[in-house]
Amino acid sequence: MKALILAGGKGSRLRPLTYSMAKQLVPVANKPVIEYGIEAIAAAGVKDFGIIVADTAKAIEEVVGDGSRWGVKVTYIAQPEPLGLAHAVATAKPFLGGDEFIMYLGDNMIKSPLDGLIREFQDPATASTILLTAVPNPSDFGVAELKEGHVVRLEEKPKAPRSNLALVGVYLFRGLIHDHIARLKPSARGEYEITDAIQSLIDAGLNVRSHIVEGWWKDTGTVEAMLEANRLILEDLPRAICGEVDDRSRVEGRVSLGKGSRVLNSVVRGPAIIGEGCVIEDSFVGPFTAIDSGTVLQGTEIEYSIVLGDCRLIRPGARIEASLIGRGATVGHAAGVPKTMQLVLGDSSQLTLP
Ligand code: G1P
Repeated sequence: MKALILAGGKGSRLRPLTYSMAKQLVPVANKPVIEYGIEAIAAAGVKDFGIIVADTAKAIEEVVGDGSRWGVKVTYIAQPEPLGLAHAVATAKPFLGGDEFIMYLGDNMIKSPLDGLIREFQDPATASTILLTAVPNPSDFGVAELKEGHVVRLEEKPKAPRSNLALVGVYLFRGLIHDHIARLKPSARGEYEITDAIQSLIDAGLNVRSHIVEGWWKDTGTVEAMLEANRLILEDLPRAICGEVDDRSRVEGRVSLGKGSRVLNSVVRGPAIIGEGCVIEDSFVGPFTAIDSGTVLQGTEIEYSIVLGDCRLIRPGARIEASLIGRGATVGHAAGVPKTMQLVLGDSSQLTLP
């Protein structure tokens, strides 16, 4: 069994962050999204990983490296054009050969161990296994129709979905999927859809198994989903205080405070994670907040947010909430009169003022 992780997508819904960073590297609880997937697959015993990369190849290679951190071997495969998930599999054919593989979309997060699925897939009567979960907005996903527990039909982003069961970005395939991919025609959005390739297996009378995800699943492609994934991961965070907390401060509940970080005259209420070398001064860090290394907060209240590394949040004037703040950003407050706003915002930035 090999693993194929797709990390070529552009992340247009996470702009402006994704102008300068791969969407798979945006941190959830201070860890790049893609690492959660690699960890889960490595924990299931898979050792041979292929990672599909495109424009952001260099950044992904720098973070993931050769895979030795997880005891696996990583081969990088360049996808020259973003022509869809099935096209990515076709691109990886020289790496995959005729082997079975687990395909994992690099911006997906799933809280559900994968070892049972992989074990069960050893039954050669199963041509593919897909994961499903009920969603309120099935038209945004691939949708499965089941009859007596069997997958009878799959449709990519249907206008009139036949169920609320979305395809989660984790799939198991055998080598025969390549024949079905080779026969695909591009979809209405101009992509070779893996959903259509699985439908082709069903049309050929082959057995496609489905599982409903037991834990949670998030496609972290939007700010809302990132914040929600961050909340879900922080729910399980253990308390670990490696930094310094002065005696005017309170660090309450499940808080992880990294080495070299200092909490001065502040309240940090968990679950929250603060990386290394941060300064939290005269501030409040509320639940479900992740602050990455090197960031400084002074006179700032923040909760339910993700702040990347090396930011400076200095007396912003109102509580920051449900926010995603990119690397090295500065948020400040103009004192005195006239009361003006000075903005340097990247393309597609969003600013909501009180
Ligand atoms: C892709 C798949 C879709 C699946 C989704 C899960 O959609 O095509 O079937 O439900 O991932 O995240 P995309 O992210 O390409 O819109």
